[in-house]
Amino acid sequence: MKKILFAASEGNPFIKTGGLADVVGALPKYLDKKQFDVRVILPKYMCIPEHLKQKMTYVTEFYADMPRGQEYIGIYETVSEGIHYYFIDNEHYFAGDSPYHQVFEDVNKFAFFSRAVLASLPVLGFCPSILHCHDWQAALIPVFLKEFYKGDPFYRNTKTILTIHNQKFQGRWVIHDIENCRDLPDSCRYQAMEAYGESNFLKAGILYADRVTTVSKTYAEEIQHQDGGEGLDGVMRQVSGKLSGIVNGIDYEEYDPLHDHFLPSHFSIKSISRKKRCKELLQQEIGLKQDPTAMVIGIVSRMTEQKGFDLVNYVMEEMINTMHVQVAILGTGEGRFQDSFRFFAQKYPGKVSALITYSEGLAHKIYAGADAFLMPSQFEPCGLSQLISMRYGTIPIVRETGGLKDTVKAYNEIWHTGTGFSFAHYNADEMMSIIRYAYSVFWDKPKEWKAMAKRCMEEDHSWGNSAQKYESLYLGLF
Ligand code: GLC
Repeated sequence: MKKILFAASEGNPFIKTGGLADVVGALPKYLDKKQFDVRVILPKYMCIPEHLKQKMTYVTEFYADMPRGQEYIGIYETVSEGIHYYFIDNEHYFAGDSPYHQVFEDVNKFAFFSRAVLASLPVLGFCPSILHCHDWQAALIPVFLKEFYKGDPFYRNTKTILTIHNQKFQGRWVIHDIENCRDLPDSCRYQAMEAYGESNFLKAGILYADRVTTVSKTYAEEIQHQDGGEGLDGVMRQVSGKLSGIVNGIDYEEYDPLHDHFLPSHFSIKSISRKKRCKELLQQEIGLKQDPTAMVIGIVSRMTEQKGFDLVNYVMEEMINTMHVQVAILGTGEGRFQDSFRFFAQKYPGKVSALITYSEGLAHKIYAGADAFLMPSQFEPCGLSQLISMRYGTIPIVRETGGLKDTVKAYNEIWHTGTGFSFAHYNADEMMSIIRYAYSVFWDKPKEWKAMAKRCMEEDHSWGNSAQKYESLYLGLF
């Protein structure tokens, strides 16, 4: 049995700010339990909900040598949905009401986390064949492993994989200020770790890891080009031989239109006409006009520039005034977007509903009750929402980037194929014309629309396929 350890800064159900948590919380469950003993290690943030903290049991504690001196490391564990989780405790680093704070604090915090993971495994007696690290927060694990544990028999056969969920976030800060990296050799700090005069955790991880993956094939290509590389395209081209893209899946049990406990009415491909009831109840619950003929466009997202909110903002008036549509937006994020959607909701009561909050239940109700799902991202490493919406027969309208391009097949009216609508350039007018096209199909060809919704539901974006690809990647490393 090969041991694998996922190291990450977030994971469902314990702590979540984005899609990373969904992947870390789901993928381990789908890897073959006969071949792999997959465990997960996370920081024990004080902000993890109390009822989850209460399920953790104390394992041990010790002091490890760190640049600041001897530092406390406590280890807790729990089993959730059959997966063994470890948590690194140190309240100096993991206090506060959210996992991330100021960048200068975070770089030091996650350098500590990465060192603590490596210091803990011999104490736990869990020797992984593969350390599967996620994003910049865990990217220094391969670095510390190679620099500090070179001759250590415990880690002799341990290989590392770094998965990039979003290349925009790199963990960058002034080299001299990162206390927990101070003792790395200069050759590392000033070369592998250095980018544009700063230290860059992601870059170092990319260079030190045995394999690098990202969360879709197209994104793996895009980050090797100047306009998608976020400054690291040269590095990505340099490591292209060890880089691959594996698209994410979604949890088909959590997102199941036939058994979803958040939904007031259930449906499957065979009973897709019952989706209407979800729409009706959604309209009622979130203050949209009760009108089965309006096309409900749903958006569930972090409100950031990455997600294309400036485009949505730009076309909102035109959309509402020229088409019989309703818009349901759920999410939180940048103040300017929150404010503008609040404004539209006030200006167009019954037509726009802005839910500036995070609610799992409302998200499910929008995925199930909307007719179309809008996701015009500037860039999108994978994207999970379009997969969820398809699972609920809600037709995605997306920009052709990263995982959106890989998972949504454009509608072809001649061949009657496709699972959504897509546009190429990051341009509001181009987006508007594709929304109009979608609207014309919805309105003029309801049978076509319904057939496409069924095709969406027939797609398989469960974790099975992706998990197999990760398994082959692991097996290739032993
Ligand atoms: C990040 C990316 C998103 C991806 C998710 C999980 O949140 O922005 O595209 O789906 O990670 O990999």
